[in-house]
Amino acid sequence: MRIVSYAFLLILSNLFRFSLQFTCTQISDRDETSGSVLNIPNNSSTPVPIPSNFNCTYTIKPPKLVFAQITVTNVLSGANDVIIVSDGQQKTSEIRKNSPNKMIFYVFPQTTTTVNVQNFDDSSKFQMTIDFISLPKPEQRTLQKGQNLNYVTLSSIQKKPLSLSSDGPITLTLALSSYLSDVFDNYFLIDGDMDNPKSIKRLVDFQLSNFNTSSNIVSIVGLDEAVSHSTLILNPSSQLNGFSKFRGFTVDETNRKIEVKAENGEKIGVMIVSNNIQQLVLNRIELGEENNCKSVAITGPPTSDSMTLIDFKSDDYSLPQLFPYPYFSIIVENCDAQFNITNSISSDYYNIESDRSGFIFSPIYFNSEATNGYMNITFTYNGEERRRFSVDVDRVTFGSINSELDINIYDSDWKKTLSTVITGNQEGTRSRALGSYLNVQMYGSTAARLHWSLSSYSSSFFNLPFIIMLSALMIMISN
Ligand SMILES: *[C@@H]1O[C@H](CO)[C@@H](O)[C@H](O)[C@H]1NC(C)=O
Ligand SMILES: *[C@@H]1O[C@H](CO)[C@@H](O)[C@H](O)[C@H]1NC(C)=O
Ligand SMILES: *[C@@H]1O[C@H](CO)[C@@H](O)[C@H](O)[C@H]1NC(C)=O
Ligand SMILES: *[C@@H]1O[C@H](CO)[C@@H](O)[C@H](O)[C@H]1NC(C)=O
Ligand SMILES: *[C@@H]1O[C@H](CO)[C@@H](O)[C@H](O)[C@H]1NC(C)=O
Ligand SMILES: *[C@@H]1O[C@H](CO)[C@@H](O)[C@H](O)[C@H]1NC(C)=O
Repeated sequence: MRIVSYAFLLILSNLFRFSLQFTCTQISDRDETSGSVLNIPNNSSTPVPIPSNFNCTYTIKPPKLVFAQITVTNVLSGANDVIIVSDGQQKTSEIRKNSPNKMIFYVFPQTTTTVNVQNFDDSSKFQMTIDFISLPKPEQRTLQKGQNLNYVTLSSIQKKPLSLSSDGPITLTLALSSYLSDVFDNYFLIDGDMDNPKSIKRLVDFQLSNFNTSSNIVSIVGLDEAVSHSTLILNPSSQLNGFSKFRGFTVDETNRKIEVKAENGEKIGVMIVSNNIQQLVLNRIELGEENNCKSVAITGPPTSDSMTLIDFKSDDYSLPQLFPYPYFSIIVENCDAQFNITNSISSDYYNIESDRSGFIFSPIYFNSEATNGYMNITFTYNGEERRRFSVDVDRVTFGSINSELDINIYDSDWKKTLSTVITGNQEGTRSRALGSYLNVQMYGSTAARLHWSLSSYSSSFFNLPFIIMLSALMIMISN
């Protein structure tokens, strides 16, 4: 009797135990609609004990323009207990007893993610909540041509899909910011439009190579809320003709070291994008010693419309150098190169201590669509020694009738020592005068690239005719 009641108790407790567990009930399609929240297993919002020797695969497939957010909570205790999450982009994550207790996964619309729960230990528990969240209809845009660089900040496409179309395939380049905490695990690149994708990839898999579409449309979207400062650059794939690859960098106020490795025979296009501020500053450059090493800075994305900003091998310039535009490109061929770039300008940029040279560009030189046409900048030399400013107009073109370029040089008492007014397109004018201030003004729609320098007057005294005269004198004396 006593034994029987004990056995009965055992059966009862097993029954009770069983009632707290669950079976492998699948998610039905009609529950996978926007707004629905599913608690699995058994509608429980807290972890539920998993039966031992349990092996169940749940399938999650949200419909068009709806994504799923899966929050898996686990209390796994056995060494072999595992929850395997596999998504439609061939990404597999294994959750084991030492994994975080809560992990979140995102399922892209119309793709399948499976959650496979394998349990052997009878003290393990598991629960997941699946939120089905709708996305707005993608914003439609057309890829711009010419000197326009097409780029979008990752933060602008969080839960806001964007579709871009062009007249041919499109190449995407991730321009990573310098924020080490930047994450973009749940950004997706879609070849085609959202409803009829040819392929769906995760952006994280394209940090070192470009993503190329086969169709003329690309769609992009981020599903989570993680903050990112990086940008995504889009080019018509035809712009890559002749290049080994394109790389991209997002630059902010911290000085950023950019390293480019171009093997012999390689030509790499590097697109630099400024975060928030409409300017970039080059602080340092280091180029390989190879004879066939080439590197130039050019406007826009690298295209046949690009204008040369600086030829790093042959031009005479000092750094820092300001680029008054939110983007430009650098081409590196046959060598390694390093650049330090920021988008903040030091307070003493326009103060000159000693000999210095560089370029003055107008925003319109970068892109005829630039709107800030007016410029008024003044370089100030504070030194004791007499020095001479020299300005070469490498190229100036005027886009409107009221356009004008003025070059003024003043002495230390603000008395004009030179004034040049240019109102017609030209190349090659040189303005040169002793002075302490160099003032350059541009009006209307002026696209200009000026090369300026400040040099010791005494050293320029030793110019060639003078040296010849001097040596003639020496010969006379020695005779
Ligand atoms: C499911 O949960 C309910 C309470 O919400 C419980 O009564 C039931 O026994 C559970 N079923 C199984 C099979 O675990
Ligand atoms: C799950 O729980 C919710 C609220 O707790 C209830 O409305 C719903 O009917 C339950 N679903 C199932 C399948 O038991
Ligand atoms: C569990 O099921 C999956 C397929 O659904 C299978 O690949 C795996 O081997 C199974 N695991 C065990 C321990 O039986
Ligand atoms: C996309 O095209 C570029 C340039 O041709 C190439 O370097 C890159 O490897 C391609 N990307 C992939 C993923 O194949
Ligand atoms: C270049 O950038 C690196 C890293 O941001 C920094 O450590 C270094 O000091 C910079 N060099 C110059 C000359 O600005
Ligand atoms: C241009 O800048 C100079 C120096 O800062 C200033 O004296 C001058 O008034 C400015 N010109 C105009 C038209 O604003």
